[in-house]
Amino acid sequence: MSTFWSGFVIVISLGMIAACLWLLFANARGAPGETTGHVWDEDLREYNNPLPRWWFNLFVILSAFGVGYLVLYPGLGNFRGWLGWTSTQQLQQNLDTLTARRKAAFAALAGKDIPALAQDPGARTLGRAVFLNNCAGCHGADAQGAVGFPNLTDDDWLYGGSPEAIVATITHGRNGVMPPIGVGLSPEARQALLDFVPYWSDPALDPAKREAGMKQFALTCAPCHGADGKGNKILGAPNLTDDIWLFRGGRAGVEETIMKGRQSAMPAWQNVLTPDEIRVVAAYVYSLAPHPVPPAAAAPAPATPASAP
Ligand code: HEC
Ligand code: HEC
Repeated sequence: MSTFWSGFVIVISLGMIAACLWLLFANARGAPGETTGHVWDEDLREYNNPLPRWWFNLFVILSAFGVGYLVLYPGLGNFRGWLGWTSTQQLQQNLDTLTARRKAAFAALAGKDIPALAQDPGARTLGRAVFLNNCAGCHGADAQGAVGFPNLTDDDWLYGGSPEAIVATITHGRNGVMPPIGVGLSPEARQALLDFVPYWSDPALDPAKREAGMKQFALTCAPCHGADGKGNKILGAPNLTDDIWLFRGGRAGVEETIMKGRQSAMPAWQNVLTPDEIRVVAAYVYSLAPHPVPPAAAAPAPATPASAP
């Protein structure tokens, strides 16, 4: 603020307070019953009662408060006030307090492994906050996902549900690519697959269709989805036998998948979140699954003939 405007503000502010006080004291005189001396219509007179005491005192206190405030805090033009308070400094202080609290919260969790963190209500609360800020946009606030975005609360994992697999997924991201492989197939081959794959988990499926489909599957799809159709956690190829669909299921959904292909990207968080944040959010995700898969189960299961479950 230029000196002129600073002076302007000071003069106006202090002048107003002085004017209020002058008005107050100028009207404080008078006594009950005394009149101002004005007379209207021959006998109408105006009393000159003093201001009520409480009102008068309140006004004096308010004025004193105003002056005190202007002396201590910035308010008078360029004068900074005796306390030297600024709003940026206050903000910095609040931020510092929050950062310190955050550090302490994470420090309290240091050295705990992810299953232990998943049991810890404090860690889960922290992890949930990280999740809501960064992950809920794609996976949903309830982590139950949507078409193309996996549900993180069930026991069906594309890349594995062990603590290590979850941390790796979050840290480095993942890319799932299903080629539009159906385009190159004969109509019969496609037909055999579409009569089978969408109904894999259905025990009532016609055994002849199952057999024909299985044969075609072994030729075209098994390299990625596994001979047993249970998926491949290295590629993120989903289990096709459990009737849990990342994209649309049913004949139309599977047809769309094999004709158009699918591509999904889970972003990498290593440059966005700190390792501590990744650990607590991984623990939160780990805590959501009903039966977290022990690390050994992430290895490909031995091939079993696909019979009715
Ligand atoms: C831009 C959208 C997006 C955001 C944001 C996102 N994800 Fe994902 N996430 C995906 C997609 C898509 C996949 C599936 C990738 C695939 O199919 O190959 C995925 C997969 C995963 C998986 C693997 C699931 C499995 O079955 O193996 C985990 C775990 C996961 N995300 C956790 C998180 C966490 C934790 C965050 C927040 C730090 C997060 N995601 C943020 C889109 C997202
Ligand atoms: C090159 C490896 C590869 C081959 C070959 C392949 N898939 Fe896939 N498939 C994937 C991957 C990876 C995904 C997950 C894509 C994603 O996350 O976006 C997938 C997804 C799917 C899905 C979606 C599953 C869901 O839960 O919605 C279906 C259905 C599917 N594949 C069927 C097939 C069939 C049928 C064949 C054979 C004709 C086949 N795939 C061949 C890698 C493959």
